[in-house]
Amino acid sequence: MVTNTVLASRHVDEFRKIVGEQYVLIDEESLQHYSHDETEDLHYLPEVVIKPRTAQEISAIMKICNKAKIPVTPRGAGTGLSGGALPHLGGVLLSMERMNSILEIDERNLQVTTEPAVITEVLQNTVREKNLFYPPDPGSRGSCFIGGNISENSGGPKAVKYGVVKDYVLNLELVLPDGEIIWTGANVLKNATGYNLTQLVVGSEGTLGIVTKIVLRLIPHPKHDLLMLVPFKSAENACAAVGAIFRAGYTPSALEFMERDALEWVSQFVSGSTIKIEEEVQAHLLVEVDGNDVDVLAKEIEGIAEIIQGFDCGEILFADNAQQKAELWKLRRRVAEAVRANSIYKEEDTVVPRAELPVLLKGVKDIGKRYGFHSVCYGHAGDGNLHVNIIKGDLTDEQWNGSLKDGIREIFALVKELGGTLSGEHGVGLVQKEYMNIVFNETQIRLMREIKKIFDPNNILNAGKIFDI
Ligand code: MLT
Ligand code: ZN
Repeated sequence: MVTNTVLASRHVDEFRKIVGEQYVLIDEESLQHYSHDETEDLHYLPEVVIKPRTAQEISAIMKICNKAKIPVTPRGAGTGLSGGALPHLGGVLLSMERMNSILEIDERNLQVTTEPAVITEVLQNTVREKNLFYPPDPGSRGSCFIGGNISENSGGPKAVKYGVVKDYVLNLELVLPDGEIIWTGANVLKNATGYNLTQLVVGSEGTLGIVTKIVLRLIPHPKHDLLMLVPFKSAENACAAVGAIFRAGYTPSALEFMERDALEWVSQFVSGSTIKIEEEVQAHLLVEVDGNDVDVLAKEIEGIAEIIQGFDCGEILFADNAQQKAELWKLRRRVAEAVRANSIYKEEDTVVPRAELPVLLKGVKDIGKRYGFHSVCYGHAGDGNLHVNIIKGDLTDEQWNGSLKDGIREIFALVKELGGTLSGEHGVGLVQKEYMNIVFNETQIRLMREIKKIFDPNNILNAGKIFDI
């Protein structure tokens, strides 16, 4: 039962009155289920799990928690990679899972209004039926929630051409930590009216309010796409080719990098993979172009292939049917799962200006040699966003929890030196906050803390995420 000195049995009774008996869980199995997300092997037990259905119910819950100073951790699908949904202070775990309706597709204005617990891919497929496109597509799009994507300002492979979540969010309904319900903006494409509260909430990792409705802009769906997989003998050359593609005037709709281990591990992990990786190959680029005119696209992909050939690439695989494209994308999307199945790992979501990617990759490998860790690197090369998965492998627990942190600090110091920052799309959450002082000085962090205080003076909502108060 509830043991925390703040959260008492009477609070649980009140929660039951608000949402109904069956949506307030305190049994051990449920608490365990909500004790982790996809971040490393971290577990923290909440004291109670609540599954509200409406913004009004959330408002009533927040009023109780704010008064009694009970910590509240909002949670989407639990696919986060920086620990944003971990209830590390116990208290209430607010699972948004029942708020899963797409409310309206406005075909006149190319907009959709949705609740937060709609799975990203479901939203994409639903608007697709009307020839509309919502591009942001994180690796986990088949299971993550759109609300979680907003909390983290997620990206994914298409971001390189179409932008990230923030570029599609027009307006949000938000329950504030004291229970008041507001809209952050207006359903318009341009808005120069006061501070941009909508964009402040996007990427705020559930620390400022709880998003209960979302208005997104949509675009017409492109009619065609072409895809190719390009092997390289040198991973640094693969990274160097990326910048050259853009400098030559091309904007692919995806430009993904996978080190040899990434593709090899995922090929073994996913059954039925037909991809062969030659002995000397060290990395691959997966390049997609999309648009409405297939002849233009064919010229584009040939032009890109020509540029890439200047970087000592091997034989290019052009995916010439839907099945082959689906296989390549499945492999790319499941790399994270394959790495997780292989070993405990820490994921660093580094991002640098695109042309610095080869220097970053070399630096990561050099740092790894000095600290004795193996890393599997892959990610959204077109955005300069490299996921560095540090493998626990043979490292002792002392190394893993001790000296490795110095190695990670060195990686982030290099990222900063190259003009980049800690996270491109996975957020800071719980596990990256100790590195925030590498990229922000005290004044910058103070400004963020003050913003948090204005929204949440009692520091009850996802407290201790991004930074400590
Ligand atoms: C991806 O690019 O696959 C996602 O960001 C997930 C991940 O990196 O773990
Ligand atoms: Zn990613």
